[in-house]
Formats: sequence, structure tokens, C-alpha cells
Amino acid sequence: MTMPSTEQMAALLEAATSARERAYAPYSHFAVGAALLGTDGKTYTGCNVENASYGLTLCAERAAVVAAVAAGCRSFVALALVADTGMEKIVTPCGACRQVLAEFAPGLTVVCANIGGQSATYRLGDLLPHRFDLE
Ligand code: THU
Repeated sequence: MTMPSTEQMAALLEAATSARERAYAPYSHFAVGAALLGTDGKTYTGCNVENASYGLTLCAERAAVVAAVAAGCRSFVALALVADTGMEKIVTPCGACRQVLAEFAPGLTVVCANIGGQSATYRLGDLLPHRFDLE
């Protein structure tokens, strides 16, 4: 299992913070940014994209996965997630995003941060034990 370096994690958090600035969240006003480090060394970003039909909202993490897969990358080392709850609280990926991330990278390192710079690091397998898997 590849572990991201401190420098890679810092760069990934920066990329997620920039992606968050492009979030389209006129309904919840809760902007989220995500950045995935591919095993190809490239970074793929995503932000949440909401819709007037609320249930169609796409989370930042899944947007990053879609961007990576469309660019030809299907394996990942780490994910950085950045949001701002207005408190010290740090958010982790929602259940649907955990399942989608696990499809491609069950051993993923997940770093969750708020814009104040506080962060927490998890293993995707700890966030989602016993993912649904047909294999
Ligand atoms: N959101 C994400 O982008 N990622 C998550 O893991 C959970 C929630 C977004 C969806 C919605 O636009 C806003 O946060 C509030 O739920």
C-alpha cells in the first residue's frame, strides 16, 4: 500500500482548497473541495455541484473520482477533502462517496481538513468496513 509523503499531502490539501472555491452550492451554501492523488502521480480535483432538484447534487469526492476515471486514472494513493463547518469540526466523506472511492482504492489514505487548517487522517477501510463488493 503506497503512503503519500508529507509534501504530497500538503499539495493535495492545497488542490482541494482551490477546488472548493469553485464549488457550486447555492442551496446549502456548504462548499466542499476534494483532490485525489493518482498512482500516476497526477492530481484530480472535484467540488460539489448542487442542483435545483436537490437530490441530483454531486459530492466533491465523487466529482474527483469521475474526473480521474475520465482522464484514464483508476487507482489512487490519497484523497484530501476540505470543507468549512464554521466550527472546529472536520467533515468526513459521506457514505455514498466512501462506497464509490472503495471501488477504486480500498486502501486509500483520506485526509479531511477544515479551512482553519485542522485535519484528521483516516484509512478508507476504517471509514467503510465491509463495503459492498461483488467479487
Ligand atoms: N457534500 C460533499 O460534497 N461531500 C460529502 O461527502 C458530503 C456532502 C456536499 C453535498 C452538498 O452540496 C453539501 O455538501 C451539503 O450536503
